[in-house]
Amino acid sequence: MFWADRTIESALLLHYLIARLRYWNPAAVRYLNIGFGIESRANRLAPFWAEHMQRTRSAQARWAVTTDFRANGDGVGRGRLLDFNRTVLLPRFSNLQLVDADPLCRHVWKKLPKPVDPVCVDISGCLDEWIASLKRVHQPWAETLEVIREKSAPADAAFCVNSDALLSLNILSQLQIVWQEGVEAYLQGRFGRDFVKKHEAEWLDALRPGDRRWWSSTWRRWNAVARPM
Ligand SMILES: C[S@@+](CC[C@H](N)C(=O)[O-])C[C@H]1O[C@@H](n2cnc3c(N)ncnc32)[C@H](O)[C@@H]1O
Repeated sequence: MFWADRTIESALLLHYLIARLRYWNPAAVRYLNIGFGIESRANRLAPFWAEHMQRTRSAQARWAVTTDFRANGDGVGRGRLLDFNRTVLLPRFSNLQLVDADPLCRHVWKKLPKPVDPVCVDISGCLDEWIASLKRVHQPWAETLEVIREKSAPADAAFCVNSDALLSLNILSQLQIVWQEGVEAYLQGRFGRDFVKKHEAEWLDALRPGDRRWWSSTWRRWNAVARPM
């Protein structure tokens, strides 16, 4: 949890508390926690992140010059724009859509020198709903794991890309983590931390079918409309 980290600076903590007054629903709080956690680590670990940031921005520059796209670009997982190569990517697109579920990203994106189209959604179309639905599960351990195992990919509610090119800045890799953390928190609340730790292999195994189905359906949907990734 971002707020439980005792090493975060007080200015960032104050900013976080103000944001929590404004955004209080569980899904928004989940992504606020991710965003503030990233910002805090980026501040504290800047020297260690420098090489990663530099390589990510160089990769975006290479992608931009070798990609044959037209006018529309989609940036999924733009988050706080920490690793976004604005110098290369902003002039390259006439329309740029930035996408992230963290509601505070809109404020960060507004500060860019060129207007972008902000989209604040859960791109999986199912993670927020799946995590919220766990609260309605009251069965014993084995049956609860079956409910988790049976989660399947969304049919048509998921976010759809309609762009000439799509660039994911470290978001696709996060989706399974968000689902895993949501399940773990729910199981710990119901069965206790020690029990959940002891039965880790069982609940991790129950997560995989949903992860895989979600992943393959997203990949197919995105791949059909936008290249390259
Ligand atoms: C590792 S961070 C990417 C950091 C980003 N490149 C930046 O500069 O801040 C992952 C991002 O994915 C977003 N995210 C995670 N799951 C999401 C979902 N289901 N839908 C939309 N955004 C999501 C988080 O809010 C976070 O900003």
